[in-house]
Amino acid sequence: MTLLRITATRTALRVPFIGTKTTTVTPVSLSARCYSGHPIKVTHYESGWTADGVDDSIKGIEKYCTQTFNKISQVGLSVFPKDLYDVIPRDEAHGRPAHALMLRSHKLQEDQVDPSVRAIARCGAGTNNIPVARMTELGIPVFNTPGANANAVKELVLCGLFLGSRRVIDGINHMKDLGKQGLARERVEKDKALFGGREIKGKRLAVIGLGHIGAATARDAHSLGMDLVGYDPGLSVKSAMKLPRNMDLADSISSAVANADYISLNIPYIKGTPEEGGTHGIIGHAVLRHMKSDAVILNFARGELVDSVAMKEFLDKGGEGRYISDFPDDVLWNHENVVIIPHLGASTGEAEDSAAAMAAETLRLYLEHGTIRHSVNFPDTSLQEKDSNHIRITVVNKNKPGVLSAITDVFAKHGLNIVQQINHSRGEIAYNVIDIEPAAGDSHDFRELQKELTMHDGILSSRIMGGVAGNGYARNIDGTYYA
Ligand SMILES: NC(=O)c1ccc[n+]([C@@H]2O[C@H](COP(=O)([O-])OP(=O)(O)OC[C@H]3O[C@@H](n4cnc5c(N)ncnc54)[C@H](O)[C@@H]3O)[C@@H](O)[C@H]2O)c1
Repeated sequence: MTLLRITATRTALRVPFIGTKTTTVTPVSLSARCYSGHPIKVTHYESGWTADGVDDSIKGIEKYCTQTFNKISQVGLSVFPKDLYDVIPRDEAHGRPAHALMLRSHKLQEDQVDPSVRAIARCGAGTNNIPVARMTELGIPVFNTPGANANAVKELVLCGLFLGSRRVIDGINHMKDLGKQGLARERVEKDKALFGGREIKGKRLAVIGLGHIGAATARDAHSLGMDLVGYDPGLSVKSAMKLPRNMDLADSISSAVANADYISLNIPYIKGTPEEGGTHGIIGHAVLRHMKSDAVILNFARGELVDSVAMKEFLDKGGEGRYISDFPDDVLWNHENVVIIPHLGASTGEAEDSAAAMAAETLRLYLEHGTIRHSVNFPDTSLQEKDSNHIRITVVNKNKPGVLSAITDVFAKHGLNIVQQINHSRGEIAYNVIDIEPAAGDSHDFRELQKELTMHDGILSSRIMGGVAGNGYARNIDGTYYA
């Protein structure tokens, strides 16, 4: 349960003690970055969240609790300041309620999401190990880390460009065979003719998908002297600004790949064939027939994008075409013109650090500030730093008519002056951020306000930001008030 009672004077806002918890904490202690300057003192009732078996020693800890389900990079976790966050592995939480969950590949179950959880972050791009639709129904944002591993993947794409140009791997294997026979020195100069190649400088690279990885690949390929063409019907302004200035843009995959010496696939896998709006098998007969017979296709996006049987036919035609892929392939794994890499695209320490740091930063922004960035189910919401004289209240509600005015009515009824209100929606969900400025001399009991607000039909949760870290959150779970 959250109680804020505020007495405002001309110079400072003081909070008399009310309720079960005696500590008063100035918001400045929450985060110097988020809450700076002249403080409003805020007192919450002690959080009503209980869980059987909670160790007495953890009661009264005035910090956020982030719980992790996988081994997460320490570099990333260091983004959480120790004076404000406890970061603990889930299996060491001993029933302590979590405020945020962080995971990599763990398949999250709904019963692992405590009622106290405000947000979930996946260190990585995909979120199919999280029940996102259910989290949306519960009003819990799920975050991911788009682009955090883009540099790692791009570097391997560049490696693929070279592997597709020079028969380096075949040459290495040949040297091993010769070495075993003690013939390496004798045969090296003669046999190297077997592994000739070509240079990438001046060749044409088609980049299909110009997002984080595609745009970075295009930029670096340009500096290696390649001629570029791209195709991306959903090209963002941000990605477009990263592209080399003289890059051609095609209006279809087929026209992009025609005349290309190299083709880099950097698009998401979407279930369904292209005719059905998906990307399954998007590189099939219809596209392959436009390719040069010696084209090198680089697939560091997803194995299912390529129709393996059609690719085999293309490679078997006797041209010098090659396929370099980061994914297992039951049809092509042993083909002499194919290089299969064991999904190493994002496997660097730096990518793990960067994804964990981005996930932690995203959680901090949401928990401490209310900002929503990189969510897969909530609307982007960029917020100014809260004015130190204001109290910020966030509300998550179902995106249906009438709820917004009901929220405003509750504030009016309590005589609170709204200085800023933001309402963003995405699909079924709406997110409201309300900054209020208590008038000098006013005293408000926020316990009633929060309950009224939260229990209004269509509202899923509310947070009163400030005061004791980890308190101030209330939920309406199917008509039951949890605070
Ligand atoms: N090999 C690995 O380990 C690894 C690691 C990370 C990502 N990936 C894969 O790489 C893909 C790209 O990653 P990203 O971070 O650049 O994603 P991103 O979302 O930043 O970019 C994807 C781009 O593809 C475009 N696109 C979507 N459908 C398209 C289509 N049919 N034709 C052309 N363009 C299309 C989008 O508009 C977007 O700009 C991911 O979807 C993922 O499958 C692989």
